[in-house]
Amino acid sequence: VSLKDLNTFGINASAKCLAEVSSGEALSELLLSNDEFREIPKVVLGGGSNILLTKDVDALVLLNEIKGIEIQKEDEEITEVKVAGGEDWHGFVLWAVERNLGGVENMALIPGKIGTAPIQNIGAYGAELKDVFVSAEAVDLATGESRVFNAQECRFGYRDSIFKREAKGKYFIVSVTVRLSKKPKLNVSYGAIRSVLEEKGIVEPKVKDVCEAVMEIRKSKLPDPAKIGNGGSFFKNPSVTKEVFDKLSESFPERPFYKNSDGTFKIPAGWMIEMCGWKGKRDGDAGVHDKQALVLVNHGNASGKNILDLSRKIQDSVFEKFGIRIEPEVNVW
Ligand code: EPU
Repeated sequence: VSLKDLNTFGINASAKCLAEVSSGEALSELLLSNDEFREIPKVVLGGGSNILLTKDVDALVLLNEIKGIEIQKEDEEITEVKVAGGEDWHGFVLWAVERNLGGVENMALIPGKIGTAPIQNIGAYGAELKDVFVSAEAVDLATGESRVFNAQECRFGYRDSIFKREAKGKYFIVSVTVRLSKKPKLNVSYGAIRSVLEEKGIVEPKVKDVCEAVMEIRKSKLPDPAKIGNGGSFFKNPSVTKEVFDKLSESFPERPFYKNSDGTFKIPAGWMIEMCGWKGKRDGDAGVHDKQALVLVNHGNASGKNILDLSRKIQDSVFEKFGIRIEPEVNVW
C-alpha cells in the first residue's frame, strides 16, 4: 500500500498492509481475542503530519479513523469535551471557536489528528495542548487492554510526552478529553497576533478573532502541505544554559530568544538556520522553506532520505556556527 497520500511530506514509501480503525473497542477486542493479530508488528498513523518516511514500513499501519465530539461535563465556567482520536485537530478547533469556547484558538491550523496531539504536546503562539488536556484513553497494542492517561502521567514537556519516550509506539490513542473555558482568557502574548488584531482595528478580541489572526499568520509563513510537502517545524528549538546564551549574545546581539521558566533560554532554530544561509535553499527536491527556515519541504519527488540528508547538513552547519546542536522534532521512520 502506498503511503504517499497519508504523509504530509508526500514521501512515496509503502507499507506492508494498512487497517482503518473506526472504534477503540473493536481494536481492543481483536487484540485480546486474536493471538495472531496481536503478534503482528504495528505502527499507528494519525494525520501523517509529523513523520518523515525514510524507508518502506515493514509493519501493519493502523490508521486512526475514530470519529466523534462529545460533551462530557459542563458548568458556568467550563465545558469538558471528549474528542475521538481520528478527528481532525483543526476541525475540532473550529468546533470550539464556533461555540466561543476558549483554550485551543491559538492552535488553529496545526495539521494532524486529535490522537497524535498528545504525543508531541502540540503547541503554537503561546499555547500548548497540555494547558487544556484532561486525559487520553488508549489501547495497549501489546495486550489489547485500554487505559486512561491523566495529564501528569503523560509527562508533557516542550514537544514531548511519555508517548515519545517509554510509551513510544506502544499505544493507540482512542480519544482525548480537553477542558475548554466559557470565560476565555485570551492569550495574545505573541506580537504577531497583536499586530493582526490592531490592523483590523479589533480592540476587544473574541476567541474567533484570535483564531482568525493565528490562521492568517500561519498562512503567511507556513507552507500548505496540500501544495508543498512538509511536516511543519522540522527541528525543535534548543534550550541552552545562561552561560551559552550570554556567549551567543556577545557574538550575535540581535539573537531572538524565549526565556524558559527554569532559567534556561530557548533559541529559535529557524533563526540559526537562516543565519547559516539555508533559507530558501534546495538540494534537488529537498528544500528549506523560503518564509520559515525551520520548515523543510519536498518540492516534488524528494525521498525521505533526501530530506534526512539535508537535515543533517543543516544540523552540522548550525553546530559549526553556533556550537549548538539542533534535534529533529518530526519522527523519522
Ligand atoms: N526566525 C528567523 N528566521 C526564520 C524563522 C524564524 O529569524 O526563518 C525567527 C523569527 O523572526 C522569530 C523566531 O525566529 O524571532 C521565532 O519564529 P516563529 O515565531 O516563526 O516560531 P518558531 O520558534 O520558528 C515555533 C513552533 C511552531 C509554532 C511557532 C509559533 C517549534 C519547533 N515550532 O516556531 O510550531 O507554530 O513557534 O508559536 O517549537 C510545529 O511544531 O510544527 C510548528 C510549526
